[in-house]
Amino acid sequence: MAEAAERLRAGETVAIPTETVYGLAADALNQEAVARIFAAKGRPATNPLIVHVLDAQMARRFAQGWDARAEALASAFWPGPLTLVLEKSESVPDIVTAGGQTVAVRAPSHPVARAIIAAFDGPIAAPSANRSTGISPTTAEAVMDELGDRIELIVEGGPCAVGLESTVVDLSVAVPVVLRPGHVRRDQIEAVLGAPVAMSAADVEPGRTHKSPGLMRRHYAPKTPVRLLPPAELWTSASKHAVYLTHTVDIPPGRVGLRLPEAPRDYARELYGALRWADQQGAEELRLEAPPDTEVWAAVRDRLSRAATPPDR
Ligand code: TXA
Ligand code: MG
Repeated sequence: MAEAAERLRAGETVAIPTETVYGLAADALNQEAVARIFAAKGRPATNPLIVHVLDAQMARRFAQGWDARAEALASAFWPGPLTLVLEKSESVPDIVTAGGQTVAVRAPSHPVARAIIAAFDGPIAAPSANRSTGISPTTAEAVMDELGDRIELIVEGGPCAVGLESTVVDLSVAVPVVLRPGHVRRDQIEAVLGAPVAMSAADVEPGRTHKSPGLMRRHYAPKTPVRLLPPAELWTSASKHAVYLTHTVDIPPGRVGLRLPEAPRDYARELYGALRWADQQGAEELRLEAPPDTEVWAAVRDRLSRAATPPDR
């Protein structure tokens, strides 16, 4: 962790664990360091980064729009998997916000992430530590597979407890909008704010600038084509080379698959590892049992529907 802080001070990138997914970190106030994140990931410059802070006090220095709503949400959910989008301060370099007037801030709860931010004593920009459009890594080994040949240091922090990226909520507008669903649910945010929160319906095509440019339709995607199906239709594939992911039914003898946990949060923790496993099987198709369309499954369904979007759309 001391070495990580040292390298961050020197303008290098370092992969670090967080409770959601591993991130590729750099000094958020150093343009050249942040540029190294974009280069390593092959990330389009139009897609802004999340600035990771220790607490609300540090966040206020970089988010000029910090208001009573931000204060309430930070008190309720920080440190933890909630990212707040607010009007930015002068000190945040344009490269971090992709030229926009807002900045995304989050205080991660993973003790290793917190120790590194504390030792570095400043904000760190960190997207998920995968190549652009790939699957976010939830273990240090997965970071090695994604970026091992492009970065100098990965800090081992064990498997991520949440397993999906943070909830992103836009507070720069009158009615807050969930731009990316996550572990912290919309109804929980509404309960804290005592006011309605909208769900972003907008998906955008890659390459276009957007309110949340990371929300490209195809994202979080394995290389194997994915089909989301009700349980009854899972086993009807003509392909002998399909793999399966279920969560309410067992994998029948003779089929290659994994059964994931039935509870949404346990499922979320294991999903990305399962998608990586599926990619390693060299199958023609990944047939996946679709979870129900309910609030508790919103984050998982969001990632699955993106994974199931063909690359040409
Ligand atoms: O859980 C997480 O959020 C992880 C860990 C490492 O903290 N990070 C992560 O970063 O998922 P990334 O870059 O993969 O996703 C950040 C998302 C993208 O969809 C991006 O477009 C959006 O947040 N975002 C960042 N800044 C924004 C802004 N100013 N306005 C709207 N959306 C923003
Ligand atoms: Mg990402």
